Amino acid sequence: MDNHDLTDLQRLVLSRRRFIGTGALAGAALFLAGSPLGRTALANAISARPLLGFDNIAASTADTITLPPGYRFDVLISWGQPLHQDSAAYRGDGSNSAEEQLGQFGENNDGMSFFPWPGDANRALMAINNEYCNYPYLLAHGKPPQSLADVRKAQAAVGVTVIEVKRDADGAWQFVQGSAYNRRIHANLPMEISGPARGHASMKTAADPAGIEVLGTFQNCANGMTPWGTYLTCEENFSDCFGSTDAALQLTPAQKRYSVKLEGASDNRWHLFDERFDIARTPNELNRHGWVTEIDPFDPASKPIKRTALGRFKHENAAITLSRDGRGVVYMGDDERGEFIYKFISRDRLDKNNPKANRHLLDHGDLYVAQLDADAQQPRGSGRWIKLSFGHNGLTPENGFSDQGDVLIRARAAGSHVGATRMDRPEWIAVSPQDGQVYCTLTNNVQRGSEGQPVDGANPRANNLYGQILRWREAADDAAAERFDWDLFVVAGNPVVHPDSANAGSTNVNADNMFNSPDGLAFDQDGRLWIQTDGNYGNSGDFAGMGNNQMLCADPVSGEIRRFLVGPKGCEITGVAFSPDQRALFIGVQHPGEGGGSTFPDHQPSMRPRSSVVVVRRDDGGVIGA
Ligand code: FEO
Ligand code: CA
Ligand code: CA
Ligand code: CA
Repeated sequence: MDNHDLTDLQRLVLSRRRFIGTGALAGAALFLAGSPLGRTALANAISARPLLGFDNIAASTADTITLPPGYRFDVLISWGQPLHQDSAAYRGDGSNSAEEQLGQFGENNDGMSFFPWPGDANRALMAINNEYCNYPYLLAHGKPPQSLADVRKAQAAVGVTVIEVKRDADGAWQFVQGSAYNRRIHANLPMEISGPARGHASMKTAADPAGIEVLGTFQNCANGMTPWGTYLTCEENFSDCFGSTDAALQLTPAQKRYSVKLEGASDNRWHLFDERFDIARTPNELNRHGWVTEIDPFDPASKPIKRTALGRFKHENAAITLSRDGRGVVYMGDDERGEFIYKFISRDRLDKNNPKANRHLLDHGDLYVAQLDADAQQPRGSGRWIKLSFGHNGLTPENGFSDQGDVLIRARAAGSHVGATRMDRPEWIAVSPQDGQVYCTLTNNVQRGSEGQPVDGANPRANNLYGQILRWREAADDAAAERFDWDLFVVAGNPVVHPDSANAGSTNVNADNMFNSPDGLAFDQDGRLWIQTDGNYGNSGDFAGMGNNQMLCADPVSGEIRRFLVGPKGCEITGVAFSPDQRALFIGVQHPGEGGGSTFPDHQPSMRPRSSVVVVRRDDGGVIGA
């Protein structure tokens, strides 16, 4: 950036906005440069070294991790790795039992956080989500569950794993087998229900008549890390674990809204062997999942807590920031076609001097849902946050809402009632440490353009194959604001296959960095925006030239995007954490060899592929990405 003067930089920012008409150009310039904060960001960008200090790498279909010159990777931990001294060894044929799996690293790792050890820069804890199961690899017979024992193994393999890690003299981070902090938090572990839905009639079951304690967390997608040192794990496709043994059962509107299927929505088949997941027999169990669950990694005996004030939906991640007056603000996406973006604002202020005082900050506050203006012609506009509070905005008994617990349990219905904007599958949200602007990946949506999901400015393409990243700026740069302005940071596409249509993407996408289905999203402390993909890795047709799923890095001011990492065959790259010194980047390789074709990471023909956490370092020990 140092060679650009301010005018050049503004031109660069503007030139990538392919969809903006001439009349809107002046407004777009104002959006970035016209406010005091925008000018600061520009000035910083001009005076500082370039934010991206590595070379863009080519797309790849290799069955390994590909990185820019000067970078290397190590595998930190893989599915099945024994956690404790007495845990069973991993067997590469899927034959470990459910009991053995409880002592091993879980399957399909996803979001994760790095918790520095107080006073020791070479020691840390990590909390890592284990989202769901790859049955061809999890079970020895390679089929979906055929028995209760199979289901128990699946339930033992999902949830969250807490591990201790340490840095050796060479600067490599290692997993510490046998640490007293290593812990599996799985689908049968008791956890507390807190917040407004605790004890609600819809939360009560025969096993828990008070509606205050639930077994387990599963479908743990992405995450959040609180300023008070706890981990938030976000329950996403929970309804995939439910089904009905009664084929004639009439699903309720509330069950349908969370896309429950009588036959089960996937290959889980848990409902056939465990009646807790049979909605014909235990209908309220469904309501006890789909929450954000808080875990204290530093207390291995602590009971996880489901924070119902944050709403029930298919949670992606939980991006936490503070309002100007010091309240906690949590941004959250609901990943299903046409679902919403939410934020929670705590009632109480964060007490920075007394972390324990914040332990229940997420139990009291207000949930809001985003409504973007419906101007279909512009990739920018304004929006507002609408409060989902019982008795307000029509969330009343006359309209079918009984109390605040009901509003939160049926957050989707509440969002629809107040007119929230249907988005192209909101995935991760990240808040810039530089200027507080908020970024959200909208991964794709083949239903856009169908009834009820008209094309609009923020979701600008029918049959959206490639996805886009939405960005907004809260009014007065206060995360607690009720108004915001938004634009699109990038519209993904394939400018080689579709040079002359909106499927080319925005002008910061080109033949060398193109990608599809942005998903994982995070800022590092220097303000680099890291983008991970969970998309079509067929490398043909609409996706020709994009290769395997990957990780890219963007300069949020210039809009430049470079490809940094490509994953092995059939994987998704998801989950990102940095050591505080930014010398280590932890990323997740989820479901390598989905559909076959990979032996990552063991590269032995007799071993099944395994989801893994990978650590990326620079050969010279420098800051990642710089
Ligand atoms: Fe688990 Fe929406 O990704
Ligand atoms: Ca995701
Ligand atoms: Ca995804
Ligand atoms: Ca996934």
